Amino acid sequence: MAGNTLNELKANLHEAFQSDPVDMDHVKDLMERYSSNPADWGKFAIFDSTHYTRILVDEGNGKFNLILLCWGPGQGSPIHDHADAHCFMKMLDGTLKEVRYDWPSGSNAQELHETSSTVLKVNEVSYINDSIGLHQVGNTSDKGAVSLHLYSPPYSKCHTFKPQTGEKSEANITFWSKFGDRVVPLTTTNQSCWSPAATNCDGCK
Ligand code: SIN
Repeated sequence: MAGNTLNELKANLHEAFQSDPVDMDHVKDLMERYSSNPADWGKFAIFDSTHYTRILVDEGNGKFNLILLCWGPGQGSPIHDHADAHCFMKMLDGTLKEVRYDWPSGSNAQELHETSSTVLKVNEVSYINDSIGLHQVGNTSDKGAVSLHLYSPPYSKCHTFKPQTGEKSEANITFWSKFGDRVVPLTTTNQSCWSPAATNCDGCK
């Protein structure tokens, strides 16, 4: 299929993930070939004034998650790893800044070493996995931004890292909505997380 609509992209991704091993260059190519059209994804896009939102749009037969992320001005993720998964991020609207870091070295507290900083524009696709390093993504513009992320295999826990010391914490990752249905927010105060679906959460700061 040409891959000109989000539904066609999803169908192409499902097909790509049937092969073993999956050709990740092909997956990146499919993500790049999709030309962002708000008519496809606008119905899922929802912003929250307190944090960026994560909206599950496809469960990829258990092989991948495709997630729409809506970032208000100034909102961003903490520095994190990717639980041994592949991470593709395609810009659908606005711009996002991606900053990459090396993994912390040794056991002493040390500032994380920044390796790159890139501003991603509409239709660009970035790829990272744990062998490349850690990253942090944020909307440094004064307008909303929307991105489409593919994670394979899907995961719900990863690690966040403090920039000044490299200190690592486990984090739960949740969804603001699944296919447009609001996910019931977590209320546990002692749970590390970074999603707007959780309230009173220190892990988000
Ligand atoms: C990112 O910063 O790569 C997005 C993290 C997420 O999936 O919430």
